[in-house]
Amino acid sequence: QAAVPSICGMPLKYVSLVTLAVQNALLTLIMHYSRVSAAPSHTYSAASAVLLTELLKGSISLTVAFLRLDYCSPSSPSGSSLWNPRVLLYRFRRLGKEVFRPDCWKLSIPAILYVIQNNLQFVAVSNLEAATFQVSYQMKILTTAAFSVVMLRKKLSPTKWLALLFLAIGVGVVQIQNGSSSGHTSGGSGHDMNAFKGFMAVVMACFTSGLAGVYFEMVLKNSQADLWVRNVQLSLFSLLPALVPILFSDASPARPSPGWLQQLFANFGAWAWATVLIQVLGGLLTALVIKYADNILKGFATSLSIVISFLALRSIPTPQHP
Ligand code: C5P
Repeated sequence: QAAVPSICGMPLKYVSLVTLAVQNALLTLIMHYSRVSAAPSHTYSAASAVLLTELLKGSISLTVAFLRLDYCSPSSPSGSSLWNPRVLLYRFRRLGKEVFRPDCWKLSIPAILYVIQNNLQFVAVSNLEAATFQVSYQMKILTTAAFSVVMLRKKLSPTKWLALLFLAIGVGVVQIQNGSSSGHTSGGSGHDMNAFKGFMAVVMACFTSGLAGVYFEMVLKNSQADLWVRNVQLSLFSLLPALVPILFSDASPARPSPGWLQQLFANFGAWAWATVLIQVLGGLLTALVIKYADNILKGFATSLSIVISFLALRSIPTPQHP
């Protein structure tokens, strides 16, 4: 039995679950603020943020996978330090073989689903109030439970089914309350919001979240490959779908113009960077949670984020702009 990893004596499973709950709350608040605090014509590109997130997550995962690689095998150059050029070359070759192992294609499925989901998330937070988005997005626990039962043959205890039922009722109540004020609103900030568009984006994101999460768990737990190698594969397969909306945008590198890079990252201020960094943290934490706990526990933990967001939202004023 492998030792359960821990941080300062606390099992990594619980540390990652609690950190993910806080990360989820922060993400909703910061992402929402970053989108609605500027007029639509002055906001940053969601597609650029998604691409940047994948590049950063991929680079961090590649570094961790490289450092974790066991290089003390019989065929490795012995008696030399890790940074010896021969050892480095050997490690790069080993890592390359691991990343491009024959079953790497399996990660293309969650990669595409996650890129779609990460773009939909921006549509949802731009069109719904932060609290409404936060509650509606918890429907992903229902889709995750359904996919876990079907694809992983998981059995849920009656308590978990009951908790899911309460959650569904909670989401329903919030939607009915919002129903009366649905349509185009300014969200109190002058930013035009379309509640129907936002809700449709949430529904689709919940579907991709459940399917991608459970599929990733299935691939991860049915093979010996390292979690960080799987993360690198996921990021690599995400690059192409993340590039597609950029290639069709005005800032496409396919139509080189002197300022295409500036155009790609136009309006990328502190809040946009904060959103990207919190997304990166979330992705890495999600991977740890799926490995050391599971998707259903992850869902229950992140619903805690509603309470955290609620407390924070009460003390944050709504942004105003002309
Ligand atoms: O909302 P949900 O919990 O499904 O979001 C998961 C997030 O974690 C997505 O943004 C996805 O891109 C990211 N992720 C990741 N690496 C994994 C699994 C998920 O970056 N191995």
